[in-house]
Amino acid sequence: DWKMDSFVRDSVEQIRKKVGNGRVLCALSGGVDSSVAAVLLSKAVGEQLTCVFVDHGLLRKDEGDEVEAVFGEKGQYDLNFIRVNAQERFYQKLAGVSEPEQKRKIIGEEFIRVFEEEAKKIGAVEFLVQGTIYPDVVESGVGGESVVIKSHHNVGGLPDYVDFKEIIEPLRDLFKDEVRKAGLELGIPEHLVFRQPFPGPGLGIRIIGEVTAEKVRIVQEADAIYREEIAKAGIAREIGQYFAALTNMRSVGVMGDERTYDYAVALRAVNTIDFMTAEAAELPWEVLQKVTSRIINEVNHVNRVLYDVTSKPPGTIEFE
Ligand code: XMP
Repeated sequence: DWKMDSFVRDSVEQIRKKVGNGRVLCALSGGVDSSVAAVLLSKAVGEQLTCVFVDHGLLRKDEGDEVEAVFGEKGQYDLNFIRVNAQERFYQKLAGVSEPEQKRKIIGEEFIRVFEEEAKKIGAVEFLVQGTIYPDVVESGVGGESVVIKSHHNVGGLPDYVDFKEIIEPLRDLFKDEVRKAGLELGIPEHLVFRQPFPGPGLGIRIIGEVTAEKVRIVQEADAIYREEIAKAGIAREIGQYFAALTNMRSVGVMGDERTYDYAVALRAVNTIDFMTAEAAELPWEVLQKVTSRIINEVNHVNRVLYDVTSKPPGTIEFE
């Protein structure tokens, strides 16, 4: 793609000019935007760049290791990669908390604290990289929703707690599909480039009610099975967003000749253009049946699987 080829070349040149010999810090989430921004910076300034990846223990199954495999020491890029395993800290802060916005706030604040600690260890940095893309710029500029339904916004989130001179936002003029094209141009693996949107608070808002390590395990296992079967059916790229959530409900079932009293997992799959509105996807019945029987057989403490057919509005895409 010649357009992206020249975008990459121009960006690299501009970044080099701007950064000089300065040190650059980046918060890497493993999402498309921060990954592409990081790789672009790495291409421009190599080891002057340090990426901090905070594993808050609310990632999908194996996701932390996947991010490390791409960006860590054994990965293909020239950069300093720091993975912070902060699971315990997050679980402790979340213990006993069930209100969605409060969970978001706790996860967001703890994330900042962890990142700040790492930044302090690194010492003075001149530049901070943000994976802001064009729609973020527009949304946060024009006021956005006047009623806060969910406090999503990661935009402009980091600044004042890290000492730095300037922000670098190399993707500011790109739409999502262009970011993906740039990612491919930069040789980022497809599973990262075509990753579906994953909320900052992660599984924290896909577990209805209180978050515990046990519930995280349940939703990770169920979600991994769901994703695997969707991939096998070859329909992954046709669906806007899909995931498993853990309801806060237990119900009676029967397994062998034993009564069970266990959790219900909810499956969600939506099609959407802009994530402001969405419709439930009509997944093939065989896929739903296969996923359901696998989840119940393979995931401990789940005895029921529900499929959510609610549109947005009135539902939201996530359950919290
Ligand atoms: P909702 O649930 O509001 O989701 O219909 C719309 C899109 O936003 C994502 N989402 C979030 N992203 N932090 C994020 O970074 C959040 O707190 C958050 N809540 C929802 C959701 O995954 C969907 O793509």
